[in-house]
Amino acid sequence: MGTIQLTGIGRTFSKTAAVSDIDLTIDDGDFVVLLGPSGCGKTTLLRMIAGLLEPTSGRIRLDDVDITEQPSKKRDLAMVFQSYALYPHLTVRKNLAFPLRVQRRTKAEIDERVTEVADMLEIGQLLDRRPKELSGGQRQRVAVGRALVREPKAFLMDEPLSNLDAKLRTQTRHELTALHRSLDATFVYVTHDQVEAMTMATKIVVLNHGRIEQSGTPEQVYDRPESVFVAGFLGSPAMNLLDAQVIEIDGAVSVAADGVAGELWTGSTPDLDVVLGLRPEQLVVGSAETAAGVTLVGTVEIVENLGGEQIITCRVGGRPVHVRASREVHARAGEEVALTARPEHVHLFDRATGRRLEWVADGASESSARSRMATA
Ligand SMILES: Nc1ncnc2c1ncn2[C@@H]1O[C@H](COP(=O)(O)OP(=O)(O)OP(=O)(O)O)[C@@H](O)[C@H]1O
Ligand SMILES: [Mg+2]
Repeated sequence: MGTIQLTGIGRTFSKTAAVSDIDLTIDDGDFVVLLGPSGCGKTTLLRMIAGLLEPTSGRIRLDDVDITEQPSKKRDLAMVFQSYALYPHLTVRKNLAFPLRVQRRTKAEIDERVTEVADMLEIGQLLDRRPKELSGGQRQRVAVGRALVREPKAFLMDEPLSNLDAKLRTQTRHELTALHRSLDATFVYVTHDQVEAMTMATKIVVLNHGRIEQSGTPEQVYDRPESVFVAGFLGSPAMNLLDAQVIEIDGAVSVAADGVAGELWTGSTPDLDVVLGLRPEQLVVGSAETAAGVTLVGTVEIVENLGGEQIITCRVGGRPVHVRASREVHARAGEEVALTARPEHVHLFDRATGRRLEWVADGASESSARSRMATA
């Protein structure tokens, strides 16, 4: 079991709030990724869960036991650091055995468990080496192994892949996902890498300035970002975010800006200042005649061939707009181009608050189901 419950958790450093007012439940078996830009409070939050840092406010519970005041050693949690933090003078075998020695397990028990974990991580042939005789990837594995031997209630990991090269990162990502599946244990994983978050998490918690912006499955966070911040943080290239107006034209909710026009659906709306969000992969090049949806008219500026696809940067009303398209799509720098997006791919945010705008059904008829606008 490893259910972690945070209520009202906050931490200030000499009057500056690093983490504020975090309410979060991490269910047993979850792979929760704490995601956010540098300085948003990820490490601070993880260290408080680990017991390495005292919260200034709030309570932490592990399997319904309040552990807020419990010292780190007593918490049945294992932490893997970005720096690996292996003991340089000890062999891999002794590094792996260390947490068990602290627990005063018998030699037979320790040997058995170390062998088991070394087999699981395929590091059996490295047991008699010292950390400096290992590659970065191997060290990372040993660090994970050392967390694994104790069979803790949860694993806490702070950017464990950030010292690895791109290829090794991908491989290790797959291994961690497989490990999570086979152990069925709780993972709390800190990263600022959205690919790691999208691919490994069962739940992503997006942090910004020490607060939770949104939490949900990778699909929820990617497909329905609750704020401009989340919309702009996930996705590569990022979601295109353009200032625009929502207005009613001839009984249709429409969106308009310099180089942007489109009818979203029938219904009425007050005029609103919005941020219009369009994902690069949901913009289609050409065919301005498609029925409903948004059309952008601009000029192709840059075409980047990525091998499997291309990123086309256009200028629309003076602003850059990125499109992710297949290689077959024809686009040349300097050309005029029309880009279209279907209504269901249009994200709108309140420009004043940055929050997502939703439409609520008025119950009158199917066609007017999306006619009334409200702030979510
Ligand atoms: N010991 C400390 N003393 C003072 N300020 C601190 C301390 N630790 C962290 N901070 C501040 O708290 C904020 C959050 O830091 P934290 O290390 O949690 O960020 P992070 O999200 O892990 O960033 P990164 O991605 O760069 O590791 C930062 O503004 C940081 O400067
Ligand atoms: Mg950090």
